Amino acid sequence: MSDKNKDVLLDHDADGIREFDNDLPRWWLYGFYLTIVMSVLYLVNWHVLETPIIGDKGQVAEYEAEVALWAERAAAAPKKEMGALTVLTDAASLARGKEIFNGTDHLCATCHREDMGGMVGPNLTDDHWLHGCSVEEIVKNIVSGFPEMGMLPYGSSTKMSDDDLLKVASYIISMRGTNPPEPKPVDPERDVLCGAKEPS
Ligand code: HEC
Repeated sequence: MSDKNKDVLLDHDADGIREFDNDLPRWWLYGFYLTIVMSVLYLVNWHVLETPIIGDKGQVAEYEAEVALWAERAAAAPKKEMGALTVLTDAASLARGKEIFNGTDHLCATCHREDMGGMVGPNLTDDHWLHGCSVEEIVKNIVSGFPEMGMLPYGSSTKMSDDDLLKVASYIISMRGTNPPEPKPVDPERDVLCGAKEPS
């Protein structure tokens, strides 16, 4: 440590706090330089190199592996071969559907909003649908989710009973035409009118 300027008070004053102009301790300075060197190595390793020197996968590969994993799980999710389902309209079933939709087990409302106007996920109350508006299609879409778009099977990959599935799907259907404020806009490329031919 150098003795240069040892304990010479500088003449500024911040609310009574004054300081010396001593050199920083060498060990501290070298530690600081080391963090600068490390940050450059880190940046190059993770953000520039496609295959990092440290770590086995780059971020792109890591992301793609994760997406592939979820796509695989979605494909492995039980494919429900459903006959025609009957939409439930009784108050108790719809109340249960609402409870599921807004609850924290399946997280539907975090992406579709409690009023279903849409946010991350599409508006579920209008006549435009991406994957079909029949109760069978809605049930199937809840079971398989759209992992590549962010919706896991059952909304959050926790299973729900067939009974609850039908209730939540029925609740969605019961919300049709409720015109929530500021809905997520229709995607003219993909959203098709309910009942119209599905986009391939
Ligand atoms: C992490 C966000 C997220 C969660 C949680 C989520 N969704 Fe979705 N949902 C989406 C996205 C995004 C889409 C659109 C997929 C696409 O673009 O192909 C979607 C699509 C849908 C569709 C098809 C809509 C259409 O237009 O065809 C239904 C039905 C649906 N979700 C119901 C649910 C239900 C019920 C739950 C809870 C069990 C749920 N979602 C949880 C994001 C989410």
